Amino acid sequence: MPGLKVENADLEHIVQTSDEWISTRTGISSRRIAVAETMLDLALAASRAALGMPAAPDDSVSIESSGEAFVDIDPASIDLLVLTTISPDVIVPCNAAALKKLLGLDNAIAFDMNAACTGFVYGATVADAMMAASHLKGGSVPARNVIRRALVVSAERLTHVTDWQDRNTCVLFGDGAGAAVFEWKDDAPGIISSFLKNDDDDTNALTCKQSYTSAFPFDESGVIYDAEAKAAHDAAHPDASDVSYDYINALGLSCDPAAARIDALFDIENKSAQGGPDQVIYMNGQKVFKFAAKAMEAAVRKVVEDGGITIDQVKLIVPHQANLRILEFAAKRLGVTLDSFQVSIAETGNCSSACVPMALTDALVSGRLEPGDYAVLVAFGGGLTSGAILLQV
Ligand code: UT7
Repeated sequence: MPGLKVENADLEHIVQTSDEWISTRTGISSRRIAVAETMLDLALAASRAALGMPAAPDDSVSIESSGEAFVDIDPASIDLLVLTTISPDVIVPCNAAALKKLLGLDNAIAFDMNAACTGFVYGATVADAMMAASHLKGGSVPARNVIRRALVVSAERLTHVTDWQDRNTCVLFGDGAGAAVFEWKDDAPGIISSFLKNDDDDTNALTCKQSYTSAFPFDESGVIYDAEAKAAHDAAHPDASDVSYDYINALGLSCDPAAARIDALFDIENKSAQGGPDQVIYMNGQKVFKFAAKAMEAAVRKVVEDGGITIDQVKLIVPHQANLRILEFAAKRLGVTLDSFQVSIAETGNCSSACVPMALTDALVSGRLEPGDYAVLVAFGGGLTSGAILLQV
């Protein structure tokens, strides 16, 4: 996790809130904030731990490492890297390509995925499906990349897409990363069943827009220019290969002529008009809350049933950590106690897609999950995505 730990009481200096409100309504006591660490730094530390590599000597990110508990995995044996995030460092290259290089995964294909907070469950399901497809036998199956080992990493730097004026959201989020290696074995079940679902987010309950900041020199009638100003600019800068920003800005170019339509489509309030940041998470907490417990129950029941076992055979449910009260509701709906859930939210907050692999690591490190145990990973998030995986550790 990133170096800076911020307690609930610290947030009282920023917004009208209290430790009491945050802890009783959410179960969160503190969260980690990536100040100078990038999303990739977090992903790298979690991946190194999952591969059993020692932490890098200059690593500022402390990971609750389960790495030493596992055998060292040769980086060259990883055939696939899936990185899930809603807070990427860059749009291109895919962040997974940079991670692959840093880890020395010479033989891996690598790509990013975004399924909001359900990212790890989607990523692991895609990895599993690619592994299974590549091991199908028979003439009708076309040749494809053979994948025996897949590294699925989820990393988030949510506190940089957080509106720190908005107490409804800013007390909830944290930064972090988690990772797991999935290995194909003909004689072991591994992932037994999985289930993914998208419900329409009719009320746009969870959104964060992409802010395009580059001036755009076109409108519907064509190129925006000023011939006289351009000639004067060229005369003043005879050796310049590019025009200056002064000239471009003087044209009054729009950054994104479709911005208002995007805001309207997703019901996004324009924060920059009020002097605030535009690229921040908006959430109707109650809408998501209502969706969450039901979606978790349905997904858990589906994978357990499809896996041919019963809920009481599941050693541990490893859920997305958005709110302790959501987990309590989900437990009640499933007819189990909260003890059946891995609860890690107190010291992490909501780290979106990273929550499930971080909680999985906690469960493995603490010994709550041991080889042979049945575990269900379950999550929900923007989109509205939801899903679960039944696996045998
Ligand atoms: O990762 C997936 C997406 N996220 C989630 O799954 C989150 C799901 N939703 C939730 O966890 C909860 O809905 C929240 C934690 C976001 C909010 O809890 P709530 O019990 O639904 O509170 P609320 O929105 O109904 O607000 C209750 C009151 C309001 O005041 P009034 O109108 O009753 O006077 C809020 O203004 O609590 C107030 N409030 C706060 N007070 C102190 C909201 N945020 C805060 C705060 N500190 N940080």
